[in-house]
Amino acid sequence: MPLHLDRQYVTGPLADLDRPTDDQILDAHRRVLDGTTEDPEMLGWRSMLLDPDDALLENVAEVAAEIRQRADVLLCIGIGGSYLGAEAVMEALVPPFSGDGPEILFAGNHLGPDYHERLFDYLDGQSVYVNVISKSGTTLEPALAFRMARRFLEERFDDADRRIIATTDADRGALHDFAVEKGYRRYVVPNGVGGRFSVLTPVGLLPIAAAGIDIQALFYGAVAQAKELTDADANAPALQYAADRYAFHEAGYKTEVMAVMDPRLKGIGAWWQQLYGESEGKEHKGLFPVVLQYTTDLHSVGQYVQQGQRTLVESFLRIDDATEGPSVQKEDGDPDGLNYLAGTPYGEVNEKAYQATAEAHAEGGVPNWTVTLDRLDAETVGRLLYFYEHAVAVSGTLLGVNPFNQPGVETYKQKMFSLLGKPE
Ligand code: PA5
Repeated sequence: MPLHLDRQYVTGPLADLDRPTDDQILDAHRRVLDGTTEDPEMLGWRSMLLDPDDALLENVAEVAAEIRQRADVLLCIGIGGSYLGAEAVMEALVPPFSGDGPEILFAGNHLGPDYHERLFDYLDGQSVYVNVISKSGTTLEPALAFRMARRFLEERFDDADRRIIATTDADRGALHDFAVEKGYRRYVVPNGVGGRFSVLTPVGLLPIAAAGIDIQALFYGAVAQAKELTDADANAPALQYAADRYAFHEAGYKTEVMAVMDPRLKGIGAWWQQLYGESEGKEHKGLFPVVLQYTTDLHSVGQYVQQGQRTLVESFLRIDDATEGPSVQKEDGDPDGLNYLAGTPYGEVNEKAYQATAEAHAEGGVPNWTVTLDRLDAETVGRLLYFYEHAVAVSGTLLGVNPFNQPGVETYKQKMFSLLGKPE
């Protein structure tokens, strides 16, 4: 069982928590399965798993192999759903300090002037490939970075056009048209898949494969989770997670903290933040999603979680790895008083920290639940991605919002373009 869900709720007022009934949960779930949610044409992230395109997976793996062979650096240009999924999977699965394969860097995911200036100085002299990822092709951050990257490649490489791979709309948009004109290799962001649901399309898969990760195992992990959920009853962990979140929202809770117990899971948390924030945060509804890394952040905002405003719920994400990592060594004289831990693996210390924190926070009035992965590999991460995607479609449906649009993202863009003097 690669994923499971446990709960730790405080007693008292929450004993009366108005949870949705099994029928309500299953009704929302069935709407996702049957394609009767709001914007049902945006359920492509599910249907593509039920009818896998193996030729596409193979093609992506081949192009990634070329990048791994020829590039020192793969520069991925994109923002929001166009990069968070790839970054999440890489952080989870590329071992730290491995130095294997090309360095994968990101650009156009912010407007930081210093970063974008130094980046191209750093790239000078290296063999660079670029994957520019933008469905619309008009998003300012990646479009600006791509201008620089294109010029950089064209000035240095005779085969510049071959080093650029565009992942964009199937048949329209500024990037699509430009890529066709230049003859770049192209991948498609499928029409029925929103940015934040696109990690298992070429948006995420090409950079992930270029990082040396087995995309077949990742993709088919998600397929397995999607199939399992097709036959699920109301007790399935993803449906219980959706129901819990909805119940806490209705009870007046405001914020969901995802507490990851391993730094490799922090990127998954950042991806989850976008998925839940953009899917639920509308019509003045939704839990505000925040990722924290424990135990690091227990020494930062842990005080607030324990004793601040009681509007938080907390979902732990952890790996069942108590036997892993180096064991504490025994020292003569016990100078730091740690010999009582001699022989204990790091994983066990971390597990006890998790158990203690979950209990302390529940006692302090922060209800929590835990998603545990029995291991961290490509298949399990694929399962986890689908778990959160399905759960947000269900919880958004329970909440009565459209989980697949993001109308609020446009407001800052309109004001920014007006300040920048963009022609009408
Ligand atoms: O989830 C989303 O739809 C957004 O985060 C988009 O992915 C992001 O705004 C980038 O859009 P585009 O791919 O059109 O450049």
